[in-house]
Amino acid sequence: MNTIGVYTSGGDAPGMNACIRAVVRSASYYNIEVKGIKEGYQGMIENKIVNMDSSSVANIIQRGGTILKTARSEEFKTQNGRKKAFDNLLHHKIDGLICIGGNGSYTGAKIFSTEYQMPVIGVPGTIDNDLFGTDYTIGYDTATNTALDAIDKIRDTADSHNRVFLVEVMGRDAGYIALNVGIAGGAEGILIPEDAQDFDKLTKYFKKEKRKKSFSIIVIAEGDEEGGAIKLGEKLKATFPYLSIKTTVLGHVQRGGSPTVKDRILASRLGANAVKNLVEGESQKAVGIINDKLSICSLDEAISKHKDFPKELINLAEVLGS
Ligand code: F6P
Repeated sequence: MNTIGVYTSGGDAPGMNACIRAVVRSASYYNIEVKGIKEGYQGMIENKIVNMDSSSVANIIQRGGTILKTARSEEFKTQNGRKKAFDNLLHHKIDGLICIGGNGSYTGAKIFSTEYQMPVIGVPGTIDNDLFGTDYTIGYDTATNTALDAIDKIRDTADSHNRVFLVEVMGRDAGYIALNVGIAGGAEGILIPEDAQDFDKLTKYFKKEKRKKSFSIIVIAEGDEEGGAIKLGEKLKATFPYLSIKTTVLGHVQRGGSPTVKDRILASRLGANAVKNLVEGESQKAVGIINDKLSICSLDEAISKHKDFPKELINLAEVLGS
């Protein structure tokens, strides 16, 4: 292995820069050259590839976003697009890849690696925390802290006006953010895609006489089957017309900001371990941390398996919110 390419792909996540830094500095430790591929797979196709060295990643560990930028590429889903990408990698003499991203990015990496025998290691970077093979993904801790800060603020005004606030947090397919910030923020109701009964639980909660006057915080994952906070608000209003209901969609604010200590350490450990594995000849693997120990699984497993959703936390949320 002489030259590795690193890219970030899919939704950005706080800590991706810390990971890029760890990749570049670790490669330099092994005397391997690094090329930064800008804008993910789209940049690979468009030859947006730059040289990187230790100084290129100075002063980025604290920054949110990704200095390499990111994109979601439709063209990479075509054979023609992937051929263009491979030709560009050949031109830059790249003989191994590190892909920092989520499930969709891993899928692209697996297809590409199989098609062109290009060694690749995946690093879990997504605020959603929905990847198998790691307890936490890069960006999740920062995103949950950002969401929690917002919920604490909403609680002040909800209390002052005796209002019900429906707060929508990110999580296209998973409720990790919603469940955890809901519990940490003292939410009275939490709606997540992993719990099909959560609307019934919410209805029971509002039917209790004492709820007619007091304030409540309800957290809903964007991927919940109710279809997000706005639709949920309309449905609740129809059933409980006497409630004063307000809706807040936190959106992309959760994706930005300076990464927490946890995310910086996680990103540094994972980035360094990805390089180590690539150098040692591994391919089509995803690095992770389980029970605070470095771990590795196949990209296939990371793409197709789901980690056990914490049922205990669903029960805890119900008990504490009642
Ligand atoms: O996967 C991370 C995520 O933030 C999801 O929670 C969300 O549904 C999605 O990305 C939004 O993506 P985009 O920024 O491309 O609209």
